[in-house]
Amino acid sequence: MTTSSAEPIIGRLAVIGLGLIGGSFAKGMRESGLCREVVGCDRDPATLRQAVPLGVVDFITDDLASAVQGADLIMLAVPVLAMEQVLGQLAQLELGQAVITDAGSTKNVVVDAVRGAFGYLLPQFVPGHPIAGSERSGVEAADALLFRNHKVILTPLAETSEAALTLVRRSWRALGADVEDMPLADHDEVLAATSHLPHLLAFSLVDTLASRSENLEIFRYAAGGFRDFTRIAASDPVMWRDVFLANRDAVLRSLDNFTHDLSRLRAAVEDGDANALLGVFTRARSAREHFSKILARRAYMEPMQTQSINFIANPGASVQGRIRVPGDKSISHRSIMLGSIAEGVTEVEGFLEGEDSLATLQAFRDMGVVIEGPHHGRVTIQGVGLHGLQAPPGPIYVGNSGTSMRLLAGLLAGQNFTTELTGDASLSKRPMGRVANPLREMGASIDTAAEGRPPLLINGAQSQLKGMDYVMPMASAQVKSCLLLAGLYAEGKTSVTEPAPTRDHTERMLRGFGYPVQVKGATATVESGHKLTGGKIDVPADISSAAFFMVAASIAEGSDLTLEHVGINPTRIGVINILRAMGGDITLSNEREVGGEPVADIRVRYAGLKGIEIPLDQVPLAIDEFPALFIAAACAEGRTVLRGAEELRVKESDRIQVMADGLQLLGIKAEPTPDGIIIDGGVMGSATVDSHMDHRIAMSFAIASLRATGEIRITDCIHVATSFPGFLDLARSVGINIRQEDNA
Ligand code: S3P
Repeated sequence: MTTSSAEPIIGRLAVIGLGLIGGSFAKGMRESGLCREVVGCDRDPATLRQAVPLGVVDFITDDLASAVQGADLIMLAVPVLAMEQVLGQLAQLELGQAVITDAGSTKNVVVDAVRGAFGYLLPQFVPGHPIAGSERSGVEAADALLFRNHKVILTPLAETSEAALTLVRRSWRALGADVEDMPLADHDEVLAATSHLPHLLAFSLVDTLASRSENLEIFRYAAGGFRDFTRIAASDPVMWRDVFLANRDAVLRSLDNFTHDLSRLRAAVEDGDANALLGVFTRARSAREHFSKILARRAYMEPMQTQSINFIANPGASVQGRIRVPGDKSISHRSIMLGSIAEGVTEVEGFLEGEDSLATLQAFRDMGVVIEGPHHGRVTIQGVGLHGLQAPPGPIYVGNSGTSMRLLAGLLAGQNFTTELTGDASLSKRPMGRVANPLREMGASIDTAAEGRPPLLINGAQSQLKGMDYVMPMASAQVKSCLLLAGLYAEGKTSVTEPAPTRDHTERMLRGFGYPVQVKGATATVESGHKLTGGKIDVPADISSAAFFMVAASIAEGSDLTLEHVGINPTRIGVINILRAMGGDITLSNEREVGGEPVADIRVRYAGLKGIEIPLDQVPLAIDEFPALFIAAACAEGRTVLRGAEELRVKESDRIQVMADGLQLLGIKAEPTPDGIIIDGGVMGSATVDSHMDHRIAMSFAIASLRATGEIRITDCIHVATSFPGFLDLARSVGINIRQEDNA
């Protein structure tokens, strides 16, 4: 009996081998309604007895010839080493146009067996491998849902026909599987590492413990760890014997790598080398967490196109309360970078657990630095000194983070190994020539993609950097910081002169770590030959994140909001100066200095804002806050004019165009100019606006809702987590009426 009304596309399905995998495939296909009949073939008497009563197949036989007679699809689900014999028999039979596929855990032997049996590779043969299983085996474990949400890897060959491939794909998808193609050459290698090796270890560990009779007691006490680690040791022994015989070479390579690393761990235990142990464990833990996020489809490593989060913001009343926004992004990045190349331990408090700064943290873990945390904003870095970084195992992926890529470029140019820096789709469009070119002038060897875009290939081994005097063509703290970091490794002195003051966290923090930095007017200079010494860093709350709430409180009538412990570094306070110039009511209290950075509590009360001409000297000091300030301008009386801000066009999005588009949709007159925007204050209506995957655009339109007359729907807000994890909850806690759209 079938449970689905799908139109049958397969007359007869023959499943050869009704163990867990074959039985589950047969049962699932039978219930899908895609087949008119499902025939099973097995030699085991118990299976012959049970398969029909269990609803796994319509008919069962132990005769291969009668099973495949007239079949449209033949699934081979026997152990991999039995494939050769079964295929040999199939080659003697009249198979017509039947499509043949298999579910073997290794693919090279199966493909070889097809070639051996038929003398060539059949176009109607589709090699496949479902990555699903269970420690249960046999037809009685058959489960029609076994493959739901599991991957099935197909390794089609050049000879494989499109029609055969389509049929096999459709069949697996009917069972709810996630079907992917992989080159045959990669399959056995990847599976050796991710599946075969863990099974070998589980079998081995249980056997080792079980064969020590005095240790039998331990099974009685074996709780969580042992049980979790060894669950797969209950898998089908025959199947696994075949896997290891069939995939010998790839398994040996994986096993050798593991044995090598295991003996290093053994030595660390023997020598009481706490740091080595912590290094392995922290790296593994973060890789594991990262991996579970990938599996749960929410990691920053995941291609962003597959994710979509939309915000729905509705008109609200006022914002009230006392809040602390997350840690400063710029300072968080730098704390990891400098802590890693310092000598001794650095303890960070208030670290921003956003995806951008986590990308930097992961990069240094990849380069061998032991970093504990983050845990509630605490991070402990075991510095390796200026020359202690190691080549990462592969490209360093920094997601959406321009700061990571640009600052790392300078640091990596000074290492004696090669690194590749890659980023997500948005970062891959951003200009890197601004750092690559001056670094090349210092002697660095750097390749970029066309027009100076990522990825960056930095060949540190091939160059000896030389200090230089560089006059920056644009006011960019990232470029300045990149060159100062390269300067730590360059012969002589490196000076960077900026056309206008930009954030000086690098200079301040270098000094905090005891590294001399000379600042004279617009020029900062470092000289190699000194060292950094680890210490404590207290990361203030990020004024760029606070800015959304400063604007929110300024525009929503009756608001009174205090933002605690916000960094008020003079190179970052453009947003305060501009809002005050517009008539904003902002008072600072509790001003103090933490770890070389000034902080204060900021109280913002509603005030009727007025449009202004934004002073040019404030532009670099508010560079990240303009999207929020444009919302303030839209709510102000009169016209606001911004000039000299062409840098906004090369941020995470073209912030001039994207904000102008969104504001216009909301009914505001906003005219973009090449280097700025002209905004006439007015009434904001309701619209769907596109954030262009830019975190700050998404949060700006979120606060705009306070003054809108209707709902604002903001699309593609996934990147808010790069700088402001927990934004929605915090926004709601002060009275902003915002939520994530369902089923986005
Ligand atoms: C940053 C500098 C700024 C800023 C960015 C962070 C930094 O970029 O927009 O969010 O941490 O140095 P530019 O240097 O490109 O202006």
